[in-house]
Amino acid sequence: MNDILEAVSSGIKDSKHAVVFTGAGISAECGIPTYRGKDGLWKKYDPNLYASIGYFLQDPSYYWNFFREVRYPMLQKAKPGKGHLALAEMETFGRIKTVITQNIDGLHQEAGSSSVIELHGTTRVIYCMSCSQKYSMDDVFVMLKDTCPPLCPECQGKLRPAVIFFGETLNPQILRVAFEEAEQCDFLLVVGSSLVVYPAAEIPMRAKKNNATLVIINKEQTALDSEADGVIHEEAGRILPQIVRNLKES
Ligand code: APR
Repeated sequence: MNDILEAVSSGIKDSKHAVVFTGAGISAECGIPTYRGKDGLWKKYDPNLYASIGYFLQDPSYYWNFFREVRYPMLQKAKPGKGHLALAEMETFGRIKTVITQNIDGLHQEAGSSSVIELHGTTRVIYCMSCSQKYSMDDVFVMLKDTCPPLCPECQGKLRPAVIFFGETLNPQILRVAFEEAEQCDFLLVVGSSLVVYPAAEIPMRAKKNNATLVIINKEQTALDSEADGVIHEEAGRILPQIVRNLKES
């Protein structure tokens, strides 16, 4: 294990433009469950009902009950984990340029990362579908005490989270910037993703196609392990701080 850790650390140290791509696994130690695997969120909550645009427009109460009872309480309590903090530190001492994340929990920014691309949006911002007025998730949690689904206090329009639901396309500008990062980088580190959801999972392959070194840190096997130059099947919160220590020592 130490050999590959040393190799990954020196790969990041010697890189000119290292980029990190994260998924739900980096937030698992923060009390935010991953989506797949044996205790995955989608095992308990059918994403067709709770996370697809079709059902949200038909009956938003499914999503808002899930938000009130599940999403909001876990986000309220969640603090950045050791993995988020390690990535923020790597950015501070100039070793990584950007974090491209599939996560909607805002924990990278809370940890101090300043260059974060949120491919799937953020659940911390909610906006009115009629007048675009923005609200925080705390505001909406209070509204939900009286009415579900919540309505815009300004115009009584329907509210929605600033996330990408299943069945929606990603914001083309955001995706373009993420692809540009993937194509410019010479080192791409994947942390905590099963790499099964597209177009996000195209990011590592675009980096690889541009001769970047691809390293995957994930607790279990991923769909792209065979394409990687290095794979560490370990927890992000254990490995990333060790990489920071190695970078500091060197
Ligand atoms: N450290 C590293 N990896 C971990 C940890 C950990 N502590 N805990 C879990 N993992 C790994 C799991 O083994 C799993 O392979 O994190 C991965 C998370 O995979 P998914 O649950 O599929 O999450 P993700 O890849 O982020 O999903 C992508 O799918 O449902 C949509 O929009 C949602 O953004 C999400 C997208």
